[in-house]
Amino acid sequence: MNSSSSASMQNELDPDRMPKHVAIIMDGNGRWAKKRLLNRINGHEKGAETVRTIVRTARKLDIAVLTLYAFSTENWQRPQPEVSGLMLLLRRFLEAERQTLVDNGIRLNTIGQTDRLPQAVRDKLAAVMTDTAANTRMVLNLALSYGARAEIVDMVRQMATAASQGTLDPASVTAETVAGHLYTRGMPDVDLLIRTSGEMRLSNFLLWQIAYSELCFTPTLWPDFGEAEFVRILKDYQSRDRRFGRVPSTGRP
Ligand code: FPP
Repeated sequence: MNSSSSASMQNELDPDRMPKHVAIIMDGNGRWAKKRLLNRINGHEKGAETVRTIVRTARKLDIAVLTLYAFSTENWQRPQPEVSGLMLLLRRFLEAERQTLVDNGIRLNTIGQTDRLPQAVRDKLAAVMTDTAANTRMVLNLALSYGARAEIVDMVRQMATAASQGTLDPASVTAETVAGHLYTRGMPDVDLLIRTSGEMRLSNFLLWQIAYSELCFTPTLWPDFGEAEFVRILKDYQSRDRRFGRVPSTGRP
């Protein structure tokens, strides 16, 4: 992962202001394909190449957690050939990237209702998660069969069950308790959320975790997204004054 561009990228960015957690809604594969008179799966294939590039870039830049919205709970309603094509792409991605993840200290994790995924995908995910379990440089968090409302429902169910069994005191529940019952437990909140393809919506993604995120919407379609634009977005992020509801930190009265 020591490409020649790595040093110059790191020069442009302040390592002390790097977001710990970047989340991306990878949108626009279908439109990318349509513009070229290709089928949607061709768009997803090109999108998978962008995933490889962005994972490598995030690792080079020492981003601790990269969460990618790869398949939503709503995506199950797409035509069966597209769903199967996406599942096959995911398996191929895991096979092709396993060694890169191992070699570069990247731990694979998933969030979402992964029990709904085909067995062959679950087996592959489990194998790569086992192989990378001890890695500590970065977490690659794939949101698969993910929906934020389902995540919140699961959290409420778990906490209500614990309360009814007497192992959780409702009066002691804090924001940390809630965060500790989400799929992202143990991970920092999202610092930067990026959505490609010009759509300005959140599409049921990480609703709790983005409470104080900086948002970036780019018109670029996901297959056309790349390292240079990612670095530009990170530079813009570093120039923002994150106030978390407090007063500006500019020194002005
Ligand atoms: C949105 O584009 C993209 C998806 C629903 C799936 C994302 C999948 C990939 C990037 C490729 C495979 C993933 C991995 C992790 C290997 P869209 O189909 O909604 O595009 P459109 O809005 O232009 O139709």
